[in-house]
Amino acid sequence: MLKKLEEYEKQIQELVIASKEDLENFRLQFLSKKGIVPQLFTAFRDVPNEQKKEFGQKLNVLKNLAETKFKELQSELKSGGNAIDPNIDLTVPPFPMELGTRHPVNMVRREVVSIFERIGFTVSEGPEIEDDWHNFSALNFPPEHPARDMQDTFFVAKDPDFALRTHTSSVQVRVMENQQPPIRTISPGRVFRNEAISARAHCIFHQIEGLYIDKNVSFADMKDTLLYFAREFYGPETKIRLRPSYFPFTEPSAEMDVYWGLETEADHRITKGTGWLEVLGCGMVDPNVLRSCGIDPDVYSGFAFGMGIERTAMLKYQVKDLRLFFENDKRFLDQFKAAY
Ligand code: DAH
Repeated sequence: MLKKLEEYEKQIQELVIASKEDLENFRLQFLSKKGIVPQLFTAFRDVPNEQKKEFGQKLNVLKNLAETKFKELQSELKSGGNAIDPNIDLTVPPFPMELGTRHPVNMVRREVVSIFERIGFTVSEGPEIEDDWHNFSALNFPPEHPARDMQDTFFVAKDPDFALRTHTSSVQVRVMENQQPPIRTISPGRVFRNEAISARAHCIFHQIEGLYIDKNVSFADMKDTLLYFAREFYGPETKIRLRPSYFPFTEPSAEMDVYWGLETEADHRITKGTGWLEVLGCGMVDPNVLRSCGIDPDVYSGFAFGMGIERTAMLKYQVKDLRLFFENDKRFLDQFKAAY
C-alpha cells in the first residue's frame, strides 16, 4: 500500500500536460469523487492500526501535492502553456544593449562646473523654495522692483513670503551668510519663472551662479576669470566683450558676449547681424549685498556672474527650441551620444 502511494506521488510530480483535456483527465484520475485520492481515503479505514500513522501522513502529502499540482497546471495553461524551457537562462540581458546618454543640460552643467573647479571654485546649492530675503531683499531689490511682480514669480499660495526661486543668485546670499571670505563658489540649480512657454522661454530652467569674494578683487579679475571660462568652454581662440548693464545686486554690472562670427546666414540670424552673442550677466557685488550678508564692504570686494544652462546648451549644440530640453524625446536625446 505504502509503495503504491509513493508511485502516485512520483507520477504526479513528473506529470506534464499539453492541453485542457490533459488537465481534466488528471483531475478525474486523482481528485474527482471516484478518483484515486478519495478512494485512498476510503481504503484508509481498513489500514491496520500500527500503519495508520505513517499511511495517514503520506496520504495527506499526496492529497496536497495533487491539489497544488492541479492549480499550477491550471495557471500554466492560462498563461500560455508550460513554455518555459529550463535550458533558457532568463537572467541573461538582451543583445544588443543600448546605452543611454547624459542629458545635454547635465553635460553643460558638468563641463561648466569642472572648468571652475580647476581654478579653485567649490560647488554650493540652495533650496528651490526660497524666501523673499534670499531671492530678492538681500540682493538689493527695492520693494517696488518689477521682478517681484506676480507675473514673474511663482509664490507659495499659503505664504507670500515664500516663492520658487527666480534665479540661483539666492545661493550667493546663503553662502555669504554662512562663510567669511575668501569665497569662490559656483551654484548650479533649477529656477522658476511665470513665463508663457515658447521656443525661447520656459517656466522651469537651469542656471549656474558664480561668486568670488576676497580682499582687493577687481573688475579686471572678473574679466580675466570669465575670459578663462569662455576659452575653456567655447574654444581657445574665443573673444569676449563686456557691455554695461544693470542688475540690482551688482555695481557696475555687465553682460558678457562671445564673438560668434558672421560666416553663415544662420550666424547673422543668431547674432542679429552683430557677430556677438550674449552668454551671461556679471558684475562687482554691490556693497549693499555684502553688508546684508554680514561681510564688510570696506574690507572685501568681489564679483558674481550668472548664466542659463539651456541657453548655453542651445548655443553649444545649435538647438533651436528650448522646449526640446524638457520633453525627453529619445530621438532628440540620442543625438548627444557622440558628444557624451
Ligand atoms: N540673476 C541674474 C538672472 O537671473 C543673472 C546674473 C546676472 C547673476 C549678474 C549674477 C550677476 O550673479 O552678477 O538673470
